[in-house]
Amino acid sequence: MTRRTDHLKLGAFLANSGHHIAAWRHPLAQADASLDFEHFKAIAETAERGKFDALFVADVVALWGHHHDALSRSARAEHFEPLTLMSALAAVTRHIGLIATATTSYNEPYHIARKFASLDHLSGGRAAWNLVTSVVSDEAWNFGRENHIDHGDRYQRAEEFHDVVKGLWDSWDDDAFVRDKSSGQYFDPGKLHTLNHHGEHFSVRGPLNVARPPQGHPVLVQAGASEAGKTLAARVAELIFVVHHDLAGAQAFYQDIKARAADFGRNPDHLKILPGVTPFIAETREQAQALFEEFQALIDPVLGLRLLADTLGDDIDLSAYDLDGPLPETPVGQRGSRRDKVLELARKENLSIRQLYLRLAGGNPLIGTPADIADSFEAWFQSRACDGFNVFFPYYPGAIEGFVDQVIPLLQERGLFRREYEGRTLRENLGLPRPANRFSRS
Ligand SMILES: Cc1cc2nc3c(=O)[nH]c(=O)nc-3n(C[C@H](O)[C@H](O)[C@H](O)COP(=O)(O)O)c2cc1C
Repeated sequence: MTRRTDHLKLGAFLANSGHHIAAWRHPLAQADASLDFEHFKAIAETAERGKFDALFVADVVALWGHHHDALSRSARAEHFEPLTLMSALAAVTRHIGLIATATTSYNEPYHIARKFASLDHLSGGRAAWNLVTSVVSDEAWNFGRENHIDHGDRYQRAEEFHDVVKGLWDSWDDDAFVRDKSSGQYFDPGKLHTLNHHGEHFSVRGPLNVARPPQGHPVLVQAGASEAGKTLAARVAELIFVVHHDLAGAQAFYQDIKARAADFGRNPDHLKILPGVTPFIAETREQAQALFEEFQALIDPVLGLRLLADTLGDDIDLSAYDLDGPLPETPVGQRGSRRDKVLELARKENLSIRQLYLRLAGGNPLIGTPADIADSFEAWFQSRACDGFNVFFPYYPGAIEGFVDQVIPLLQERGLFRREYEGRTLRENLGLPRPANRFSRS
């Protein structure tokens, strides 16, 4: 396999006290970080010092869980609305991309097109939209529904939702706003395009009341892992988030998605795949392992069990079963790729209920010295298992500071990562082309 000469792309997952579910309890983490803007600002500054491509913030449009006993043992009950947080961070950063999550299941396309176009202008071309169809079914209860929209229907809606949003972003030619004081013409009406969309889910006339975004349109991010999710990602995504547990699986996914993108007539290089990874780093491997275990030991069993039940299907009660025994017969739950993966993992490795929830809660840990982490990144990148990583820092701020001070220089020395940002926009830094306006004549 020829050695790659392009650079790794790196995202930092902004997660309150840290990505580890028990992070808020650990002495290295800040327990009251969730709504502390100074905390997020400091992380953003560190990420930018490390030349990260982007910050990423996830979202659930509900209290993240309705089992309050379990929820009360986590820091998940409060979090900023992503576009609001990213707008504030846009003002205190200069280079780093800002990836905010918004669901297509409980939103309207006009709102989303407008908000992300605004963030792109506010940030000088650094906005990205993580398009999700909502994994947490509780969201339905906040939007006039008794049940979550069915998985297949969610993706059908998402396909059309995306097309409408993208159409709205093309409402104006790039040079539509002439603002000619002498003629009195503010914009050229010939460069304004009305979408007039009438589809199965949406009727949207347009145009958008925001000029074409600096990036043409914000970078599109997607993380679907089901067939429908992968199809949508291959058609529209420019960045893909995914979680893998082994190199071979990651390589197969990479090849599959890039081939699907080519089938859609796209250049596969214009779609970057970033698996999530949780680095636990210390001077020695033993210390790193001990650090990981400190975090795992802080997971309350009530919370761990709930996490597992949520993944397997909302209504499953596992409390009657022996924690150190196997899972009961295949439980019935909402169809979804995450659930299937977890069931497969339990079967393959013969895990007890406790081992399974610890595995789930532990995320995707990468445990070792800074050189181990750099070796692993290099191996995955060079063997075409990924184009970079979405780093799930287990605790903040120490984990990202350590990574920037100790791992980034190794990646740079090996020619795997930038020393300076290549451009001004997220697109330029990711090596993605600026899309043409579909309506433009010029
Ligand atoms: C890194 C990462 C971040 C995600 N962030 C969110 C999120 O913020 N909100 C959400 O509802 N789903 C989120 N998801 C879930 C995906 O959008 C998707 O629903 C999930 O991967 C399952 O795929 P499927 O729906 O195609 O089965 C995320 C997934 C990954 C891998």
